[in-house]
Amino acid sequence: MELFKAIEARHSYRGAYTEEAVPRSDLERIVAAGLAAPSGCNAQTTRFVIVDDPEILAAIGNLHTMPAMQQAKAMICVITDREPEPVYQDMSFQVEDCSAATQNMLLAITALGYGSVWIDGWLRAENRAETIGDMLGVPSDKILRIILPVGVPAAEGPRRDKLPFVKRAWFNAFGA
Ligand SMILES: Cc1cc2nc3c(=O)[nH]c(=O)nc-3n(C[C@H](O)[C@H](O)[C@H](O)COP(=O)(O)O)c2cc1C
Repeated sequence: MELFKAIEARHSYRGAYTEEAVPRSDLERIVAAGLAAPSGCNAQTTRFVIVDDPEILAAIGNLHTMPAMQQAKAMICVITDREPEPVYQDMSFQVEDCSAATQNMLLAITALGYGSVWIDGWLRAENRAETIGDMLGVPSDKILRIILPVGVPAAEGPRRDKLPFVKRAWFNAFGA
């Protein structure tokens, strides 16, 4: 899919998935898009665990009420440092690094005809990042920040409205 088509088509998909499997070759392409993302000082701080084992998928999916999480054929688990080390002066960029990787992967997921949603806030509540991190063997100095469920959407999902260009973007001066 052409890049701007994928950008337009991407949306958070939380609905049911079909039974169609997601081949490892596609999962590798999706994660390769994450690996290709920029990172502060090219420190490449983000790590990825790709889950396609049905038992682990069920164990994670059962914690959520969302069909996409319960029926995902794969999940990409995005992991970063628990205590970010500075990489430039006193600055660390771990959150930005994993966000850039995640957006690249969402576009790749869309371009390959799959649906997904950025699961992040849910992981931060009720110790879920630790619970699922333990299932995946995430070491104690790392934290599971984001999960992307992956599958073929069984239906069209709703699209969220975006504010128009003129409300959020200007040439040369804020609000011009
Ligand atoms: C940082 C971040 C955290 C998010 N956390 C969650 C989440 O925990 N659960 C969820 O269903 N969606 C989550 N989302 C998806 C947003 O709700 C979604 O992107 C937003 O409503 C806009 O819709 P769209 O993705 O269809 O454009 C998150 C998105 C971002 C960028």
